[in-house]
Amino acid sequence: ILKIMKDRKGILLAGGSGTRLMPLTSSVNKHLLPIYDKPMIFYSLSILMLAGINEILIITRKEDLSLFNDLLGDGSRFGINLSYEVQDNPNGIAEAFLIGEKFIGKSDVCLMLGDNIFYGGQLSEKLHSAMLRKKGASIFAYEVMDPSRFGVVSFDKNNKIDSIEEKPSQPKSNYAITGLYFYDNNVIDYAKEIRPSKRGELEITSINEIYLSEESLFVEIMGRGFTWLDTGTFDSLVEASNFISIMQRQQGFNIACLEEISFNNGWISKDNLIELVSNKDSSYHNYIRNIILKK
Ligand code: DAU
Repeated sequence: ILKIMKDRKGILLAGGSGTRLMPLTSSVNKHLLPIYDKPMIFYSLSILMLAGINEILIITRKEDLSLFNDLLGDGSRFGINLSYEVQDNPNGIAEAFLIGEKFIGKSDVCLMLGDNIFYGGQLSEKLHSAMLRKKGASIFAYEVMDPSRFGVVSFDKNNKIDSIEEKPSQPKSNYAITGLYFYDNNVIDYAKEIRPSKRGELEITSINEIYLSEESLFVEIMGRGFTWLDTGTFDSLVEASNFISIMQRQQGFNIACLEEISFNNGWISKDNLIELVSNKDSSYHNYIRNIILKK
């Protein structure tokens, strides 16, 4: 597994205009808003790290670059290698592969949307099985009450993928496509082929449609034991914060503690952790202090 992981790069998309959350997002990038005790981007970054990906490109707006850099820097604090690129306009999610072409090089790539939060047992196993697939694309579907807000995948009676549609007004199923995508290197060529949709965006769904027509699109269902949280509305932002707070307090485990994930992956040492928490006294850092004591 480790060998395959080495060939896969990660892109974290944290641009967009955040119009639906104004005025919260008038002067602050959406992905820096707090979800309980951490900036939103920690949660998506943690997923890439749990997948074992340590070479990651963050794409965001030019005016926000310095903020992300202040928060995460070159990633060495978390034992990862972070680089940054700018998306000038919110031209769509699939533009990530054009902006990131050089970064991806000849590797496979995992795209993570910076506003998605996943939580659940066996998440790492699901990620690893997608990583092991050398050809094609893997996406994750999750059953929701309001599928028309998302990309939607439907299945025929043999459980084969029947259709994928972006925000259909009459969805053919309740399976929303989540913001986590694994692609082989063909994705760069496909991103060059597609044209903007009616809403003027290069849609990730158009990329997935190409993989579907090539019969190389795989869908993993995230079952009811999983939580996929949306942060797109004021209510869902509060609910996500409450969810994280409840889970963390009940279980005593921190969700998306980047230093902990990195330490467990063997990317940073106990000495690194000790250095990271010195002179810091938030509960986030006290949690890391406890990890040091236990090891
Ligand atoms: O969250 C999953 C959904 O994300 C999928 O089900 C949909 O198929 C997919 O199109 C997308 O839907 P949204 O319309 O909700 O995407 P949104 O515009 O909210 O952007 C999602 C993330 O990507 C957000 O973190 C901002 C970032 N983004 C988006 C666009 C369009 C960019 O960085 N640049 C962009 O140009």
